[in-house]
Amino acid sequence: MSSDEFVVTPWHVEGDIDYDKLIKQFGTQKISNDLLSKLQKITGEDHFMLRRGVFFSHRDLNLILENFEKGKEFFLYTGRGPSGHTHIGHLIPWVFAKWLQDKFNVNMYFQLTDDEKFFAKQDLSLDQTTNFALENALDFIALGFKPDKTKIIINTKHIKTLYPIAAQVAKKINFSNTKAVFGFTNETNVGMIFYTSLQSAPCFIENKQVLIPLGVDQDPHFRITRDIAQKINKTKPALIHNIMIPSLLGPGGKMSASDEKSTIYTTDSPEVVKKKINKYAFSGGQSDIDEHRKIGGNPDIDVSYQYLRIFFERDDSKLKKIYDDYKSGKMLTGELKSILIEKINKFLLVHQQKRQEARKNIDDYTVSYKHLRAHETE
Ligand code: TYM
Repeated sequence: MSSDEFVVTPWHVEGDIDYDKLIKQFGTQKISNDLLSKLQKITGEDHFMLRRGVFFSHRDLNLILENFEKGKEFFLYTGRGPSGHTHIGHLIPWVFAKWLQDKFNVNMYFQLTDDEKFFAKQDLSLDQTTNFALENALDFIALGFKPDKTKIIINTKHIKTLYPIAAQVAKKINFSNTKAVFGFTNETNVGMIFYTSLQSAPCFIENKQVLIPLGVDQDPHFRITRDIAQKINKTKPALIHNIMIPSLLGPGGKMSASDEKSTIYTTDSPEVVKKKINKYAFSGGQSDIDEHRKIGGNPDIDVSYQYLRIFFERDDSKLKKIYDDYKSGKMLTGELKSILIEKINKFLLVHQQKRQEARKNIDDYTVSYKHLRAHETE
């Protein structure tokens, strides 16, 4: 693959992603300044992930907002494929989703696709993916979603809720559609071929339009969902997409739960975080200190700076100072890394406590069939 090529699919992200090109490839809309102003007007806040372009693209977000202003409610949905522990990239759509829930006071469904990861990964048993689903659920709960407005769906546990909807969806998807979108072959297992129907099902769990905050890699599933929605008399899901946080090893890959070296997990200890950042975080600095002081570093490719920008430094003026000092050579790579290590460890200290507390109240969040009966598709 040459340096200007990239691949983004739900199961594989590679290369240096050009997000403007991706918008064209996927046929999504860039989040315009008008849309940003509208969101700001309605929510009364300018979220740093919107301001910094971490959420950069959408489908029908304008409709969601127009309808909301007319008094028409929507609901939220997002998910996780439990192939391992949660990493900080996964938290991006969830932190933003929590903000949306607070601002719009709407219901949220969180799907854990233990079946999907079992189908997709040769080396994982179904028991393992189900266990990771429960672990990942703790991270979601720890972010503070409202228990009375949030339901967690684990595919293998709550299939009874999903299956009637998935069946309606599945009947409208041809093998040639999924093949074209995902590149399936005759060797692909049939679990994978059916799977998009299950990821689509929560979109229609309530008779309202859904808004899905998610990483852009998951868009292809919902492109299919949107294509079939009208065929089953449902409203197309709306989406808001975030960029992919790069692997610790640098641009050219996303952070991935199955590669230890490229990843900061929410379960990492302070020592492990320190070691990983110091050892692996790709640096935009020069190879020796004299050079660095003379030429300066490149924050735009520096992974530590990017993590601060995307997630860990919410104060714009502090971020700008780091950018300027690193670029001018006043700040060294080691100093930049230690700012990031401190920020991550401060965040994880609180997050890990909340994660432990969540073990006690996980049942308050899991979906019960009774709860959903009223909203079922006819
Ligand atoms: P999964 O587990 O791969 O990812 C969970 C969520 O995190 C996003 N994400 C990232 N965001 C930023 N930087 C990264 N490096 C990064 N890696 C992952 C993903 O885009 C996703 O939003 N099939 C799905 C599970 C799922 C789902 C959904 C996701 C089921 N229903 C509805 C989104 C919306 C999966 O395997 O996600």
